[in-house]
Amino acid sequence: MFTQVERIKKDIEKLSEFNSTPGKGLTRFSFTKEDREAREYIKERMKEASLSVYEDPAGNIVGRRNGANNTPVVMIGSHFDSVKNGGNFDGVAGVVAGLEIARFLNEKNIKTKYSMEFIAMVEEEGGRFGGTLFGSRAMAGKVSKDELEHFRDKNGISVAEAMQKFGFDSANISKAYRDPKTLKAFFELHIEQGPLLEAEQKDVGIVNAIVGINWYEVEVIGRPDHAGTTPMNMRADALVLSSSVIQAVNSLAEESGEGAVATVGEMKVFPGATNIVPGNVLFTVDIRCQNANVIKDIARGINKILEEKCRNQGLSYKMVNKVSIPPVKLSEHLIRILTLKSKKMGLNYRQMVSGAGHDTMIMAKVTDAALVFVPSKNGRSHCPEEWTDYEQIQKGTELVLAAVLDIAEVL
Ligand code: HGY
Ligand code: MN
Ligand code: MN
Repeated sequence: MFTQVERIKKDIEKLSEFNSTPGKGLTRFSFTKEDREAREYIKERMKEASLSVYEDPAGNIVGRRNGANNTPVVMIGSHFDSVKNGGNFDGVAGVVAGLEIARFLNEKNIKTKYSMEFIAMVEEEGGRFGGTLFGSRAMAGKVSKDELEHFRDKNGISVAEAMQKFGFDSANISKAYRDPKTLKAFFELHIEQGPLLEAEQKDVGIVNAIVGINWYEVEVIGRPDHAGTTPMNMRADALVLSSSVIQAVNSLAEESGEGAVATVGEMKVFPGATNIVPGNVLFTVDIRCQNANVIKDIARGINKILEEKCRNQGLSYKMVNKVSIPPVKLSEHLIRILTLKSKKMGLNYRQMVSGAGHDTMIMAKVTDAALVFVPSKNGRSHCPEEWTDYEQIQKGTELVLAAVLDIAEVL
């Protein structure tokens, strides 16, 4: 092995300390105190690996290692924000894999033809503001002024306000754009977050495609009433209607026949008291499938059911599309290299589709992109039980290192 598992373990354990819900999984939202602590830690490790460190206008952390040629660069990275009450490995495993590769190259004084950048992306989860893959979308020029001003956290703070307060001027977001001509390849190591690799006892997964992801915010508008005095046939109960729609979300995905998944992950009931008939209900819908048309069909189906039920029961609704990321196929060229390297290293590997979204799906629009999975214990993720053995992360890191040395061309 070229890398050191102890350093991988130490970085992941240290980063897990920067957490706003200790004892209840890991929560590290963007542009918060925990972000600042993790950011400083990552920048320090980058400097120790002799990288020149800067933060781009979106808040992504970039550690650069010059090669003989200034551009295009080979990028390695993942995200360092988390979901609410999540696990220690989602995103961080890939950031730390990059740090370990940078340390190895530095210690062995390896010179490459192409420059390299090690990236820690911000707000990939969208956990705070609801706009997923924010850091990579900023690099691809896909963050709008509207999102900066209108995507808000639970306290009503917009992305722009939070960035401003944190020290980033969101007016400069367009300067985070990376011209595809300046990029040679993007590699991400990530935990699988599913059961396949463990079930098949594989060391690594070489991802060949990532599903499309659409997020919606639905508001069902009924009428708040007294729970005791309002007869059942005179109610406009927003929660009863929403519950029947949510059942339909589930069945539309199950009946899609193309492995689509749909999830209502968050719901708010207003006013929200035992003795008040719910007047308003807000809920989120996350729809994913490798086939973009199936996502659209499911969204249309939900909209139609909402429209019919609201018309029949005298309520109204809004359904707003917040995120729409098309499915993507990853670089055949990099898949071939990763496959050859896996064979050479004696790794047990398989190709697979990712049901989870990743920064790679955005970077794949602007350069050759590759995603390497390492196994998740019991397939669990986005929960405190999330776990991957450090030795497994090291194997994935070694594979990315081997492929990156090819692409960056060692001198
Ligand atoms: O939602 C996802 O698939 C990823 O964890 N952001
Ligand atoms: Mn995640
Ligand atoms: Mn992730």
